This record gives sequence, C-alpha cells and structure tokens, in this order.
Amino acid sequence: MELSFPERFLWGAAGSAHQIEGNNVASDLWALEGRPGGFLRERSGDACDSYHRWREDLDIVRDLGLNSYRFGIEWARVEPVEGQISRAVLAHYRRMIEGCLERGLTPIVTLHHFTSPLWFQRAGGWTDGEAAERFRRYVRAVRPILDDVAYVCTINEPNMLAMMANLIKGGEREGGVAGALPPPDQAVADGLAAAHRAAREELAGLRSGWTIANQNFEAADGATAERDAWAWPREDRFIEVAKDDDFIGVQAYTRVRVGADGALPVPGDVRRTITGWEFYPAALGNAVRYTAARAPGVPILVTENGIATADDAERVEYTRAALAGLHAALADGVDVRGYLHWSLLDNYEWGSYAATFGLVSVDRETFERTVKPSARWLGEVARAGALTPA
Ligand code: BGC
Repeated sequence: MELSFPERFLWGAAGSAHQIEGNNVASDLWALEGRPGGFLRERSGDACDSYHRWREDLDIVRDLGLNSYRFGIEWARVEPVEGQISRAVLAHYRRMIEGCLERGLTPIVTLHHFTSPLWFQRAGGWTDGEAAERFRRYVRAVRPILDDVAYVCTINEPNMLAMMANLIKGGEREGGVAGALPPPDQAVADGLAAAHRAAREELAGLRSGWTIANQNFEAADGATAERDAWAWPREDRFIEVAKDDDFIGVQAYTRVRVGADGALPVPGDVRRTITGWEFYPAALGNAVRYTAARAPGVPILVTENGIATADDAERVEYTRAALAGLHAALADGVDVRGYLHWSLLDNYEWGSYAATFGLVSVDRETFERTVKPSARWLGEVARAGALTPA
C-alpha cells in the first residue's frame, strides 16, 4: 500500500556553502584544512564549484521533480574582513534565491553551516563577548536579500559545532559518530544560543530556526539516567533553545547507544556506512518524534537525512525505510513540513571526499554532474507525494 504525504509537503535536497562552493578562502576552515596532524586531512579546494555552477544544480533539482532546495550563504564571503560587506556576494545569493523561485523551488537558506570568517575566529570565535553582535551584524546585512525565503536556518547543528570546538582545540579527531564525541564546549554552546537569538530578532517577519544534529541516543543495559545525562549537553539543551522558534530543523542519520560509562562503540557485526555509522534508517522517525515531544507545537522540517554509500541501491533502501518511519510519525500527528535529503551532490565531507552522500556525483576534475538512480527515485516519490514501502 502506498504511503501518502501531505499535500504541500516540501521535498528537496540540501547542501552547505563550504562543502560545495569551492575556494572559501576567507574562512576559518580553509585555514585549518590540510594542517599536518589535523583532522581535516583533505582540502576542500574547488569543492563542486557550485559558486559558479549553481544554476546547473538548481536545474537538476527541478528536473528531478523535487520542489525545494536548501543551500547556504557563506559569512566569510559576505564579510571577508570585519565590517566590510560585499554587495556583489549578496547579489550573487539573491540571484540564487530568485533562481529557486523561477524554477518553482522553495528556497531554504542556512546562514551559518560550521564555517566562520577567519577574522571572527581570530577575534575569539563564539566565546568572545562580541560574538553575538558580530553575527547579528552579518544577519542584518543579509536580511534585505532574504525576502521570499520560506525557512531561514540561522546556525546549522550548533551542538555539533560546539563539539567540534573541543576537537579543534585538541587538534585530533577520534572518528566515528558525532554523538560519541567528548561533550560540547559549554561556553561555545552559550555563545551560539546568544547568536541564534540575536539572529532571530533580525529575521523578524521570516520563519527562522536552527537545525539540530539528532543522534538517537538510546539507553543500553538500562542506563537511562546516564543516557539522559549524556543527551542533555549534546542535544536536548539545543532543542530547549528552539522551543519558541518558528520551526526546528531535524537532522538524523544513525543512533548512538549509551551505557553506564558513556557512548558505546558501534558493534563489529553491525551493518555500517562509509562514515562508520550504523546503518539505521529508523533514526529519522525516532528523531522527529523525540524533537516534537521536547518542543511541542514547533513545526519540524527535516533539513538533513541521508547515507554515505558507494552503493546507490543502498541509498534507496535507506531512504525508503527512513521515509516510511517519517510517514508513521506524521500519521501519529507529528507536524513535519518537509524532507530535505542530504545531500544533492557528492561534496566535501569535512576532511575528505570519500564519504559520498550525494544523489548526484561530481567529477573531481571537470565538475560534471551525473544524476544517480537514487535521485530519480526520490524525484518520483516527490512527484507522487507518496512512497511505496519495501
Ligand atoms: C552536517 C553536514 C554533513 C552531514 C554528514 C551533518 O552533520 O550538517 O554538513 O555533511 O551531517 O556528515
């Protein structure tokens, strides 16, 4: 039996500025990439050259039959030097928003997706007393081009960003699932919450919210109290910040089991994806239910869900099961407004091009895009507004 989704459901694909645009030279990540001993082993370089090829990307999204596109505006391009706003860059992003509208695609825009201008990082990053005001000034500069944007994501995965802050300090990445990392830097988390609130004030009149990495923390062996203590600094406190927002972005890929001594490693005999995460499509349905229970009344947008795999049939298998879980949550009354698959393109996966999350592959020399069968499959689901379960 077919599973029908609501009439005006958004179906789309997502990406972030740094991961697809290329040559984001004024950013803090660009400066970190390729450092000997650092955790970003491979450089982003030209990425997918989407700064120039965005029209082609939008044409692909439209031709697939999707109706929405999530993309990022890069602060380091808009304000490469403190106080110096590039009008040309703002005009570029405005053309992208209009490019979506012309193609009948609902634009969803992210204002911060892991990367900041290098000057901002050097001035103390998110823990500096001026951080929230610096972010506010950037958002104020961008606000005039955001008319007609359906959803504005202020900061992507603040919980992950706060965990990365600790990683960057340590200079090492242990690998594995984000939710198994050391706890987020609490001062960074506070700085991000203040910046988010400041941004939302500037965005009055638009629908704004932030997007949270949901890790499906599960208690193992009855370790419920430990699970809750683990989840609070890594996830729940970020949902709490969003409980009066216009929407919450939910991003889910896998689960993390938590025992008496913290996160447990993924067992050796479990099916895994390229990133080493457990193949666990139920993550999505669980994540939206979890979020809805903690932020009642706040509409949810799935701003990311997908799988790093070289086997495109496995992408369809994963996504079909994830969408079935999402459908069940909708049927139970969870207010989900749309599904944005991560990712449109095989892009820069924070230190490597090996983890292919894309619906579309990209030739690393010519940047030629090749649409994968999974993309066509998702497009058909979108056109029909219905899913045939496995
Ligand atoms: C991020 C993306 C990333 C994806 C897969 C999320 O943590 O927002 O930038 O590529 O997950 O790891």
